Amino acid sequence: MSIFEGVRDKIKVLNVVGARPNFMKVAPLHRAFEAHPAFASRIVHTGQHYDARMSDIFFRQLEMPEPHVYLGVGSGTHAEQTARVMVAFERIVLDERPDLVVVVGDVNSTLACSLVAAKCHVPVAHVEAGLRSGDRTMPEEINRIATDAVSDFLFVTEQSGLDNLRAEGVPEEKIFFVGNVMIDALVQFREKAARTTILEDLGLKPGGYVLMTMHRPSNVDREEGLQKLLETLEALTEQLPVVFPIHPRTRNRFADFDLAGRLAAVPRLHLLDPLGYLEFLRLMEHAAVVVTDSGGIQEETTYLQVPCLTLRENTERPVTIELGTNALMPLDSDRIARCVTALRAGVYETGRIPPLWDGQAARRIVEVLAGVLEGSEVVTNSP
Ligand code: UD1
Repeated sequence: MSIFEGVRDKIKVLNVVGARPNFMKVAPLHRAFEAHPAFASRIVHTGQHYDARMSDIFFRQLEMPEPHVYLGVGSGTHAEQTARVMVAFERIVLDERPDLVVVVGDVNSTLACSLVAAKCHVPVAHVEAGLRSGDRTMPEEINRIATDAVSDFLFVTEQSGLDNLRAEGVPEEKIFFVGNVMIDALVQFREKAARTTILEDLGLKPGGYVLMTMHRPSNVDREEGLQKLLETLEALTEQLPVVFPIHPRTRNRFADFDLAGRLAAVPRLHLLDPLGYLEFLRLMEHAAVVVTDSGGIQEETTYLQVPCLTLRENTERPVTIELGTNALMPLDSDRIARCVTALRAGVYETGRIPPLWDGQAARRIVEVLAGVLEGSEVVTNSP
């Protein structure tokens, strides 16, 4: 049976989610589509992330319906994962004949589904378009460039996204500066997050801990990176307790290099399984400093005006540095520890919230799409 069974005279939208950072972006989008009479919105989960703590918990906490389609592709090399998503998603597009495919962010599922939709002649909307780190050794950078190249609607979160797309010669009528849907989720769920008991459960006080996440291949896939990460944790825990919800990739690498014992032995380290959205949001809001290599956390801490050290050489989100509370830093334990000392002494500017990061981005996106697609003859030329 079709997932659009009974839908008539509406624009049929497939929203793609695959990996953890997609869920908090699609939740507000799906809600905004459903609130608009012109659209029928459905969620396709590729299964790139599949553990309960990497996936299911987000659907519950973000009050999303169960995915309408689950492709179950799982982990693999980049080619294996991308190819499996493409094969499975093509079947769905051919069967369901959507009028629009919406992809978010820069994960392998984003790239795979945008390519499939474009080749099936289904219009593609890319939410979080135009971000560029300039570093093509990052798999996400390839995903961003290729997804933007085949997308029809490019929804941009910050000025750099506009500048990058214009510099690449993308026609103006494809580009829409709408703000940040991930901040929509944060605005909506902040109060609910405040009611979680994660701080009390861990015996932590607001402002009395460092929050860390680390999962980039460039930081965790080699033993040298893990050794530096251990040194950093050892240095930071001399100052403050550190909360470290550990990504499965990172946990696996510590085991592969026989370093799990040394990690477990770091004093004042709260080594946790991946957390739910609400618990993590509360921990971010009250951290003295967040130390991360994530893309999205740079934006969330900018909105929350919490200092953030991003352990990377570059960022595709420069507004978090120009206006926000983010700073780039190498994985160097001495420098990080010194910086945390300075930040705790109050040496930081609270920063400003970037334009249009106001909780209304999904509504703007849906209005743009309604304006363009409603009434126009939306043809799905699926072969
Ligand atoms: C992916 C995204 C990255 C994003 C990150 C957020 C790509 C190229 N990368 O990286 O941009 O920042 O998600 O988490 O799309 N694993 C599990 N359980 C799961 C999922 C993964 O154990 O539910 C383990 C597997 O060993 C897997 C490894 O984590 O091989 C990496 O997963 P993968 O989806 O390939 O990439 P991430 O590092 O999660």
